[in-house]
Amino acid sequence: MMKKLWSIAGLAALVLLVVSCGGPRRNPGRAYMPDMAYSRAYETYASTENLKAKGINYTAMPVSGTMARGEMLFTYPYANDSAGYANSSNVKNPLNPDSIDMVEAERKYLIYCGVCHGAKLDGNGPLWKDGAGPFPAAPKSFMADDMKKMTEGTMYHSVTYGKNTMGSYASQLNVHDRWGVIAYIKKKQGGGAATADSAKATAPKMDTAAVKTGK
Ligand code: HEC
Repeated sequence: MMKKLWSIAGLAALVLLVVSCGGPRRNPGRAYMPDMAYSRAYETYASTENLKAKGINYTAMPVSGTMARGEMLFTYPYANDSAGYANSSNVKNPLNPDSIDMVEAERKYLIYCGVCHGAKLDGNGPLWKDGAGPFPAAPKSFMADDMKKMTEGTMYHSVTYGKNTMGSYASQLNVHDRWGVIAYIKKKQGGGAATADSAKATAPKMDTAAVKTGK
């Protein structure tokens, strides 16, 4: 009698155990160390508001004193004003002409500049189309004399800060890429001649008293 009771109780316990384990679990149960179980990582495009209140340290800035891999050690010395523009012609392309990947520079030119300035550098890209395109202002033709005379430094100034109706390209192209694209334009203007020559002839010494801008 006793034995039978025990086996019934045992069977009931087994059934209970099997039933309780079956089916999808919706409850994660108790987390022993929630910090390890749930990532505090900042999700791409997620709001960064009130992160501090949630105990998350996020500054959106790189650690001070560090620099991104491959970043150029070049500091553009002039501010975004008329004096800076006038002085910009003193600045030379810091890239070694032999190190410039012209295929890559052309690719970037066609993506970021060609839409306005034209694949042929004639100022007649698809956004302008002789005035029939959607862009309201005529882009400069790099094949015109004034643009051939413009130094790399002044081009860099305008591409970095923007010029009149043309916006800044500093956020799309990093320092290295901006100089690369300019070297490409200069090469095309010279009909395939070497880069960096136009500025060399007249370039005086750099005005070191000018404001450091970090650009
Ligand atoms: C959305 C159209 C557009 C794009 C894209 C564009 N530009 Fe321009 N760019 C213009 C216009 C318009 C002007 C004439 C601005 C003015 O009125 O002086 C200009 C002028 C210039 C000048 C002459 C600036 C000066 O100091 O007079 C340079 C150099 C130049 N662009 C380089 C570039 C380069 C390099 C790129 C690609 C990184 C580029 N542009 C992309 C529209 C564009």
